[in-house]
Amino acid sequence: MTESPHVIIADLSDHVDSTVTLEGWLQGKRSGGKVIFLHLRDGTGECQCVVEAGAPTVFEAAGTLTQESSLRISGAIRADDRAPGGFEMSVTALEVVHIAEEYPIARKAHGVDFLMSHRHLWLRSRRPGQILRIRHTMIKACRDFFDDRGFTLIDTPILTPGAGEDTQTLFPVDYFGEEAFLAQTGQLYLESACMALRKVYCFGPTFRAEKSKTRRHLTEFWMLEPEIAFAELDDVVDLAEDMMCHIVARVLERHRADLENLGRELAPLEKVTAPFPRITYSDAVDQLRSPETLIFLEEELVRDRARLAQWMAELKTLEQQLEEARKPWQQEKIRAQMSDLTEVIGDLERDVENRPQHIQLAQSFEWGKDLGGSDETIISRQYERPVFVTDYPREAKAFYMKVSPHDSRVVRNVDLLAPEGYGEIIGGSQREDDADMLEERIKAFGLDPADYGWYIDLRRYGSVPHGGFGLGIERTLSWICGLKHVRETIPFPRLMGRMYP
Ligand code: 4AD
Ligand code: MG
Repeated sequence: MTESPHVIIADLSDHVDSTVTLEGWLQGKRSGGKVIFLHLRDGTGECQCVVEAGAPTVFEAAGTLTQESSLRISGAIRADDRAPGGFEMSVTALEVVHIAEEYPIARKAHGVDFLMSHRHLWLRSRRPGQILRIRHTMIKACRDFFDDRGFTLIDTPILTPGAGEDTQTLFPVDYFGEEAFLAQTGQLYLESACMALRKVYCFGPTFRAEKSKTRRHLTEFWMLEPEIAFAELDDVVDLAEDMMCHIVARVLERHRADLENLGRELAPLEKVTAPFPRITYSDAVDQLRSPETLIFLEEELVRDRARLAQWMAELKTLEQQLEEARKPWQQEKIRAQMSDLTEVIGDLERDVENRPQHIQLAQSFEWGKDLGGSDETIISRQYERPVFVTDYPREAKAFYMKVSPHDSRVVRNVDLLAPEGYGEIIGGSQREDDADMLEERIKAFGLDPADYGWYIDLRRYGSVPHGGFGLGIERTLSWICGLKHVRETIPFPRLMGRMYP
């Protein structure tokens, strides 16, 4: 059977009406008396393979195949619009590579916890595959963006002697008897490199011991960080805006069908074009406390409560249908629908329950605090595009941010809030470039300047205005794909309470 050329499903359009061999896994199987339909997946696509009883040995072998068995299969390729993927194989030979044991992930709906515990297998399903391909495109788009603009990639260390961000979220490691930490950011090292190479970026895993279980927090996440010399805050914001438009355009260009399959509405992504609104933190605070915002939020709550009531009624209808359903496949289908609906109802219920408190928090927001997740959600919901928020109170942000020359209560920083309630996806700033001021800030944050000798040095030898930002890959992807939680955007998520697999 090895005579016919081995090809991949993605290339089948080049092989119509010829005989080829495919290698893959059995996604599913359907028998119709004298014919068996094998649904093959090879990692590049899906193809329906038709085995007829006229070829007894092949037919018998096909009968033994269980879900996820691996196989080599040969036959003639026909173009067929009705077939998933657009092609069909008339099978003439079949070689079993391995018969799979009973596969734990059946087509019936599983809860997220179960799926996460089977993440090593779940990756084979359509949805994770689509998300991971979009992740790949997005990361490539980021790298292309910087590579095409003369940036040099700098790999920054993962084992670090001190805090780069908030000391509360450090992961300590025993480094030959001394305490070291997993990197929270590559930024401080990039600042050194940008004084050497002017425009630099790093891309790597970063670690935060986040003790919060939210849909936005991972303990290990990937961050893309550019840093540029001779730059002020506006230059940093312009760069972030250009990059974000580039990424979204690239994903839209290559993954329309994937996004639609994920249930992602495309219209909000099409609107991601420059210029994005730019407001200050003080504007944001006024907005949170404004009567217009209160009306907006209360109307939204009324709409969501109505939606919840409608879904509950739909669930009741499904319950009745389940009682009346006779065939097992009908029951299974209804149960899957019920389980999906129950999940979205649960999410909305929790959300609606917390909303009055979030509204209260927003209305009584005091200038000086950092914006919380619910505040970001409220602000970003009021814009159709991502919105830049700049100039936060100095106490609320990191020690390295430059105190504003216009208002010493604030720093020259920027957060980019994604629309549709997704919140912060980028954090950046102009950096403090004065050695004395930086030392003072380090002390004010309860850190020891002695630990930052090399970092303060950068301000002693030809200090220049400089800045950059960090883009969280998972949060950005979660927004682009319209997901409810960041855990699906990374192959093997690390969360508080999850390390397996
Ligand atoms: O705002 P952050 O903490 O900024 C920095 O780390 C700077 N040193 C970056 C820089 O200026 N070079 O983090 C940047 C981004 C956030 O906007 C968010 O997208 C993501 O990293 N992020 C997280 N993503 C998932 N889980 C977490 N626990 C995250 N913490 C931050
Ligand atoms: Mg931040």
